[in-house]
Amino acid sequence: MTSTAQFAPAPASADLGVYGLGVMGANLARNFAHHGHTVAVANRSIERTERLMERYSEEGDFVPASNVEDFVASLKTPRVAVIMVQAGNATEVVIDQLAEHMEEGDIIVDAGNTLYKDTRRREEALRKRGLHFVGMGVSGGEEGALRGPSIMPGGTVESYKRLGPMLESISAHVDGEPCCTHVGPDGAGHFVKMVHNGIEYADMQLIAEAYDLLRRVGGLSVEEIAEVFESWKDSELDSYLIDITTEVLSHTDAKTGKPFVDIIVDAASQKGTGAWTTQTALELGVAVPAIGEATFARAASSSPLVRSAVRDAALDGGEQASGFDAGADRDEFVAQVKDALYASKIAAYAQGFDEIAAASELYGWNVTLADMARIWRGGCIIRARFLGDITAAYEEDPHLASLLVAPTFAQALERCLPAWRTVVATAALTGVPAPAFSSSLAYLDQLRSDRLPAALIQGQRDFFGSHTYHRVDDVDGTYHTLWATEEREEEKWD
Ligand code: 6PG
Repeated sequence: MTSTAQFAPAPASADLGVYGLGVMGANLARNFAHHGHTVAVANRSIERTERLMERYSEEGDFVPASNVEDFVASLKTPRVAVIMVQAGNATEVVIDQLAEHMEEGDIIVDAGNTLYKDTRRREEALRKRGLHFVGMGVSGGEEGALRGPSIMPGGTVESYKRLGPMLESISAHVDGEPCCTHVGPDGAGHFVKMVHNGIEYADMQLIAEAYDLLRRVGGLSVEEIAEVFESWKDSELDSYLIDITTEVLSHTDAKTGKPFVDIIVDAASQKGTGAWTTQTALELGVAVPAIGEATFARAASSSPLVRSAVRDAALDGGEQASGFDAGADRDEFVAQVKDALYASKIAAYAQGFDEIAAASELYGWNVTLADMARIWRGGCIIRARFLGDITAAYEEDPHLASLLVAPTFAQALERCLPAWRTVVATAALTGVPAPAFSSSLAYLDQLRSDRLPAALIQGQRDFFGSHTYHRVDDVDGTYHTLWATEEREEEKWD
């Protein structure tokens, strides 16, 4: 049913506007209103605007608009319009409509999960028209949008001067500090949000692997695993994701009386940000195996035909009955899994921060890594005690080659390494898949190796494609071996 109601055009009285009133947009608008801002609200279909006014108009100062023109006219100058619609074409359409009615110096903010390359393109186009375009990451889900998200805005410093105080007022706060800062120019905000999500995928996968190992190898019941996770809240693993894992595992399905986790189809979905983080890392030449494995694990879980074909074809995991008995000393195994989880988590976060550093360097964004960790301490999905330690590590040395070498984490890795190896080996021996645990360990082992078999790869490349190599005794020189000749003579090319 289409509503015919119209809101009367209002004078320019709103501090900012939110366009797109799905749950996220509506909650963001309410959050701004709760903090004393006058908020213009509009949506493509007017029913959502009407619903927001019916339900929440008492909560603060809202200025409803029936269409884009009235919405823009109701904003104080320089105008700020926050868009919260589906990424892709819907966002493009709304940006065009807003820009048509806006004037030089006005600010359009895209608060959706948009690919940073689109943001860079749009920012450049709108800049030419005298408008500011801010790609802004918002994390914390629906509840966060309402009660205090972590906010990652990009765009110009000038736009942040107008926007920043409003955003900081509605963001989560930790130790009195807002979980919001100006990330950097053009697409920096959306880039950092993308990597946040990639890390989110890795963290969730690692927790899921820990659960699976405790259950299938350690022999713990779902209830016991929930208790184990609950106890980890008192440790360096304390995080929102551990909290919600405990909640999910503690839940019993009302219909069957089974653990809730057992009635969910084991196929994990994704909307694309993990894949973007992985693809982008490949483009930048940065290793993010934990994020990649987490993304691939979702894909593998969601391939029912392949899974059943492989299961049916004698590859059914018979080795799981190999006689390994982690249950013999359950407490020790639980402690080992805990160490493996923490060490893998350090590796996964190190990879994500490396990716941000590489993009910041390439695009000249000057992203302050300590600030990214700081604004992720609260509000967002990966919020955790651990992020306070990452903040401190980057504050102490902003040019850390890797988080792995920060003293706190280097010591933790050293302490966890024996247990980590045992858990990864146990996973392999028992046939319980732990791709993120194992790839994180392999990542550390690669980085700590004195010599890597990459030398052999260079030899192979030179053999079949004259791709050349450098010699250890002349690293700046470029060499090729004449493999087809009997003498295998070496040539120096430059
Ligand atoms: C957040 C979340 C949010 C969304 C994820 C889910 O930070 O609030 O990351 O952005 O829940 O994108 O992604 P998937 O559907 O791909 O798991």
